[in-house]
Amino acid sequence: MINPNEYGSLLFDEKEKEYLSNVIDTRRIFRYSKTQYPYTSMCEEKIKNLVGSNYCLMTTNGTSSLKSAFIGANVKKGDRVLISSYTFLATALAAIAIGAIPIPIEVDLDYGVNIEDLKNEIKLGCKTLVVVHFQGRTFDLSEVKRICKKNGVILIEDACQAFGAKFKDKYAGTFGEIGVYSFQQFKQITCGEGGCVVTNNELIFNRMRNYTDMGSTRNRFPSWDSDEALFGENNRMNNLCAAVLYAQLEKLDKIISKQRKSRENIMKKISNINNILTSKDSSGDTGMNIIIILNDKKFKEEVINIGKENDIEFRNMWASLYYDNELFKKYKLTSKDLKNKECSYTRELIDKMLVVSIPPILNSDDEVKIANLIQIINNKGYLS
Ligand SMILES: Cc1ncc(COP(=O)(O)O)c(C=O)c1O
Repeated sequence: MINPNEYGSLLFDEKEKEYLSNVIDTRRIFRYSKTQYPYTSMCEEKIKNLVGSNYCLMTTNGTSSLKSAFIGANVKKGDRVLISSYTFLATALAAIAIGAIPIPIEVDLDYGVNIEDLKNEIKLGCKTLVVVHFQGRTFDLSEVKRICKKNGVILIEDACQAFGAKFKDKYAGTFGEIGVYSFQQFKQITCGEGGCVVTNNELIFNRMRNYTDMGSTRNRFPSWDSDEALFGENNRMNNLCAAVLYAQLEKLDKIISKQRKSRENIMKKISNINNILTSKDSSGDTGMNIIIILNDKKFKEEVINIGKENDIEFRNMWASLYYDNELFKKYKLTSKDLKNKECSYTRELIDKMLVVSIPPILNSDDEVKIANLIQIINNKGYLS
């Protein structure tokens, strides 16, 4: 495929190897070892400085970061947690793993979640909302934030798919109380598996750190007698993953500018087409894709096949709403059981949306091929 769904990994080079060798040479993989190369802490410093947060904690992946975020937000067993209906299963699984109930809330492509739905759900009682920035894009969260603040609801941003994306110069993940990122293979930058959480709140940070480090407080380790101790897990990142990620962080600007440039070049060639998803501040997108909205779901299969024949991937983001999975039905966690709305707008998006990845390795011929194919699909009447 000309446009695989991969980004930072495509630019692995001598830097990742050099930093990995440093860790191997010093034999200090555990993040809290005394070492000349504490890459895990170095990543935390770099991410904190980049996004402008007081605290950052590296973890094993986005899912464990979400669990820590819920613990940081003091979510308890049986609490209702509002979760954007347009997301990957992992967001809801993290809530279920800590005993909370994931309540789907209708997505809004400008404001993150549907404002009316949010107000209604808050009336029914909830203390936490998770907005999901997807595919290197952000939302205007000002109204959502205002409503959350007024009602004492903690706003968590699942920015697993949007590391490096900004809305009006502010990073996705820094609008609410807690931001969550993933560095899994198919994310903007990667170390195979990895994640982190950011916050400005010291108490929230301490809870997340303790939860991720078996519930205790490292500077007095082991001290499960302390008031701060929790029944935690071990979700710490190690220095091998962090070494790779540190090299990737150094390349973030280069990766994002390359994607943005390629996307701009393609967009110029398809400016006649309407059904391309925009965001409220497209200049802040990481440029990792172009998202097309088909006129009808019946064209999806054919468009994917036309793409395959031309070595261009048109990717189906998610096959279904997360709560439509059988497991959710079995445990009565579907929208209907939870007396929620049907989230019909999300359902429509899932049916009609296709993602054309823009990895940071496209040359001008590739860009022309992608633009031409989108034109062909448009000429068939599938887009406008
Ligand atoms: C929106 C969203 N949330 C959470 C996750 C979970 O991240 P991880 O795979 O690092 O656990 C993903 C990963 O695909 C994701 O896309």
